[in-house]
Amino acid sequence: MKNNDYHIPVLLNTAIEYLINPEIEAHIIIDGTTGGGSYSEKIIKSINEKSKLICLDADVNALEFSRKKLNEYAKKIIFCKGNFGKLKNILKELKIESITGIVLDLGLSEYQLTDEDGFSFMKDTKLDMRADKEGEVKASDIINSYSKTELEEVFGNFGEIGNAERLADVIVRFRKVKRIETTFNLLEAINSEYQIGDKNKFDFYAKIFQAIRIAVNDELENLTSVLKDSFEMIVEGGRIVVVSYHSLEDRIVKKFFREKAFVPSVSKYKNEIITKNKRLKLLTKKAIVPERKEILFNSKSRSAKLRCAEATWK
Ligand SMILES: C[S@@+](CC[C@H](N)C(=O)[O-])C[C@H]1O[C@@H](n2cnc3c(N)ncnc32)[C@H](O)[C@@H]1O
Repeated sequence: MKNNDYHIPVLLNTAIEYLINPEIEAHIIIDGTTGGGSYSEKIIKSINEKSKLICLDADVNALEFSRKKLNEYAKKIIFCKGNFGKLKNILKELKIESITGIVLDLGLSEYQLTDEDGFSFMKDTKLDMRADKEGEVKASDIINSYSKTELEEVFGNFGEIGNAERLADVIVRFRKVKRIETTFNLLEAINSEYQIGDKNKFDFYAKIFQAIRIAVNDELENLTSVLKDSFEMIVEGGRIVVVSYHSLEDRIVKKFFREKAFVPSVSKYKNEIITKNKRLKLLTKKAIVPERKEILFNSKSRSAKLRCAEATWK
């Protein structure tokens, strides 16, 4: 497999330029979503001999591919299969107490979409959708065992689907007749109720698949947790970079950065000791999006939004 067959990286140069603070001498950087290793490759080429890169991914296929691709830099890299939602525990096991940067390029790799089960509605595969194949819950478990109310919550909260109750109801009725084990079984269930034109149909399927994928992989909880852990472990001048691909993720990142950037007004009372607290400085006031030429080259980059914040003590 050629380098870019695994995944075409999005906002590659921008992400890594933001990530690495040139004023820090020895880096410990986390690539929390290693995927096809293009971000990692750029990071490793940008840091010196005293620095280390931790390549993390929940998907063994990503790690196997990147390990081979980055073989010549092996001395500076620690590869680790794990969920970034457990960042603090993972780093504790590696005896790493602080980090100088973390990048998260959320969502799926091309490889997962085309070669792993359940992520794409364009081909008939098992309804799996686990990034980590050791994960306990598959998409088919959710679709076949969640109650109508739970399904409605998944579709409404994670897919932002209007009238999610109708969709949940369809699934519950359909599965009484036939278990929904494959992606095409799921489309059959949807099509048994909805008659939609081609363009809107694909948008609708995309929202439904996104909702189930978020639920299977606990994506929003993991994002919230990795932001908290990163903030706790980041050194002064260290940077957190997140590239997100839908509004639910971007909202979490934006809110977290804003909250941590907030500076309480200084007390008027003279005798009060003013302590310095860790906080974030926003390096991207507005999210950065790909330029037109990147979108023309890689249409999947069109929804990307990059935000970066730097830790500071003030
Ligand atoms: C868009 S790809 C990253 C592409 C990468 N930046 C590159 O240069 O090729 C996202 C990757 O994040 C991984 N991932 C998603 N959620 C994760 C999680 N909670 N913990 C660890 N890895 C995760 C996926 O398995 C996938 O390989």
